[in-house]
Amino acid sequence: MTIASLHDFHRPLGSTGLTVSPLGLGTVKLGRDQGVKYPNGFQIPGDDEARMLLRQARELGINLIDTAPAYGRSEERLGPLLRDQRQDWVIVSKVGEEFADGLSHHDFSAAHTRMSVERSLQRLETDFIDLVLVHSDGNDMAILEHTEVYTTLAALKAEGKIRGFGFSGKTVEGGLKALEQGDCAMVTYNLNEQNEKAVIDYAAAHDKAILVKKALASGHVCLSPGVDPVRASFELLFAQPGVASAIVGTINPLHLAHNVATVAQVLRGH
Ligand SMILES: NC(=O)c1ccc[n+]([C@@H]2O[C@H](COP(=O)([O-])OP(=O)(O)OC[C@H]3O[C@@H](n4cnc5c(N)ncnc54)[C@H](OP(=O)(O)O)[C@@H]3O)[C@@H](O)[C@H]2O)c1
Repeated sequence: MTIASLHDFHRPLGSTGLTVSPLGLGTVKLGRDQGVKYPNGFQIPGDDEARMLLRQARELGINLIDTAPAYGRSEERLGPLLRDQRQDWVIVSKVGEEFADGLSHHDFSAAHTRMSVERSLQRLETDFIDLVLVHSDGNDMAILEHTEVYTTLAALKAEGKIRGFGFSGKTVEGGLKALEQGDCAMVTYNLNEQNEKAVIDYAAAHDKAILVKKALASGHVCLSPGVDPVRASFELLFAQPGVASAIVGTINPLHLAHNVATVAQVLRGH
């Protein structure tokens, strides 16, 4: 029996020049267990477990990993965990949200953006980050029109510290604006929530990148008995030509294998 893998399904991430697997690994659960909205409680995996999960992901053809300063210890754990395999991964991180002592706060100033990216470079033990997204607080247009975060990210890209930048927001208006000036939008798109479809359509028409977050509605998708929610979610997503990759957060190796096998089947068309 051949094990399904995603190696044959790597695709361009918009016009960033990066090539990514259609499934990425979300790493909230590697770093943070407070203030999260998953249906079940969980324990943050130890280093051996995390290392095995990353190795499994890589062997299954996943080359995309998503982290953020707001995911607790995620970035600082990924540095050592990915040591000596930097060239195998497309790393996405974020700026704008900080999470400390159980509370989030946001800062979209130029000084904070620069400090945050420099800190991510150090934590991730790398001299460039492939893609940095603005971690919106929901006030997408205000952030894009009245703060310095996007122009600062453009400057960091020109300096070669990041390869691309974009926005992880909550509104259609914000997603469209973010794509006009940036490389990528991370949108929510799943069986329960499809408001941001216009952003995906815009990206498809303008060769911009779309990453999908909460593809499984953070684990809250419930369907009729007999319908596999994972398959139904990926069928919905990959029917959209604008979607480059779905970032799914899992710390369960069986779920990871099932998700990869399902994406491979959906993309093969059966
Ligand atoms: N504002 C932002 O930028 C933002 C916001 C949210 C998320 N994100 C990114 O997107 C990633 C994904 O979002 P998310 O974690 O909220 O939601 P998600 O990927 O829709 O769902 C993750 C949840 O689904 C479960 N799951 C995964 N595969 C499964 C399977 N085959 N069967 C049953 N359950 C399964 C996981 O539990 P197990 O661990 O038990 O598999 C986890 O609790 C995050 O890790 C993060 O990287 C970004």
